Amino acid sequence: MNPLNELLQARLAAGPVPAAEIMALGLYHPEHGYYRRNEGPWGFAGKDYYTALDLGPLLGQTLALRLEAAWERLGRPATFTALEPGAGRGWLGRDVLNAVSGPFADALVYVHRDDNPAARRAAEEALAPFLTANRARFSAENEPIEPFVGAVFSNELFDALPAQPWRWEGERWTREVLTVAGPQWQAADPGEAGAWFAAHTDGLEPRDGSIWCEALPGLVQELAASLEAGLFLTVDYGESADRLLAKGADLRRFKAHGVDGRWHEDLGEADLTADVDFTRLASLLEGEGLTELGHIELSKWIRTHAPLDRWGGEWMALPEAERRTRTDNLMQLTLPGMMGSRFRVLEGWKEKKD
Ligand SMILES: C[S@@+](CC[C@H](N)C(=O)[O-])C[C@H]1O[C@@H](n2cnc3c(N)ncnc32)[C@H](O)[C@@H]1O
Repeated sequence: MNPLNELLQARLAAGPVPAAEIMALGLYHPEHGYYRRNEGPWGFAGKDYYTALDLGPLLGQTLALRLEAAWERLGRPATFTALEPGAGRGWLGRDVLNAVSGPFADALVYVHRDDNPAARRAAEEALAPFLTANRARFSAENEPIEPFVGAVFSNELFDALPAQPWRWEGERWTREVLTVAGPQWQAADPGEAGAWFAAHTDGLEPRDGSIWCEALPGLVQELAASLEAGLFLTVDYGESADRLLAKGADLRRFKAHGVDGRWHEDLGEADLTADVDFTRLASLLEGEGLTELGHIELSKWIRTHAPLDRWGGEWMALPEAERRTRTDNLMQLTLPGMMGSRFRVLEGWKEKKD
């Protein structure tokens, strides 16, 4: 059994623990957290969950076009740095680097930033040829980032930040906590979170709810400050603030490709995630000087930016199995009800200061 359970029992003996603290413990305990273990259950295909990257290179290929457009807009700088926080196995970076060519490929330097040790090992393998050619490098999460021209992009970073579920009970806000008897909703002062929720709904109905991610402003500030000029792009699942409130957002546990609300079980052995509040993310980015902010469904973003007719034609020349994989990848990311309609892409632009 993961030693986090003992640690948790000791914490619970002292009183209820807010769900966000349980999520932080389960994912980021320095030794036993799901994203901090050297060995263990952490994982994608065949393990607990998969991301858009497990489906094929379409996301990376489309992203490569957005990065190249940003490079053009910046006036074709000699070095275009693309920082990926929460880069995991480095597959998105690999797919981007495989997709680029010509002068843009010469300018692009990919920076993988993620302290997940198991993911780092996988990334060393996935990025090997690019690391050797100095087209990719690693950056530790506590390493200061020298401001650069280029892009910051991420896939499923913000949904992995510890988040606190809140619920409106008709007269007061309650937050989800874990007690020795199990999870409960307890009255608490929502402070800044409550003010944000109230400002983003026409009227609260009992059991409306949302999540509040305490670490979001700090991370947004750090990432936005690193970008001197260029594109900020993030892919994640979530909604605008009003839709989250109406839906009643909560924490989810992913284990062995099952998803449920048992966020307090199997700490360190299961993935925990929460919807991203895209309205808040955009508002924080705006506060950090980004402009032209907007977010759309991933499926629409792919259909808008990928030359699918041309790529479809090119796939016809591929061997049967490879052609089928590409077609499946396309369907998963563009058809209603599949991954492409559950995820959103947010883009923003940072102009160089004079
Ligand atoms: C759901 S995984 C996504 C991995 C990868 N982007 C993918 O799509 O396959 C979330 C990752 O974010 C990382 N992470 C969380 N907070 C981070 C931070 N502040 N900076 C960099 N990485 C972070 C975790 O270690 C974990 O590997």
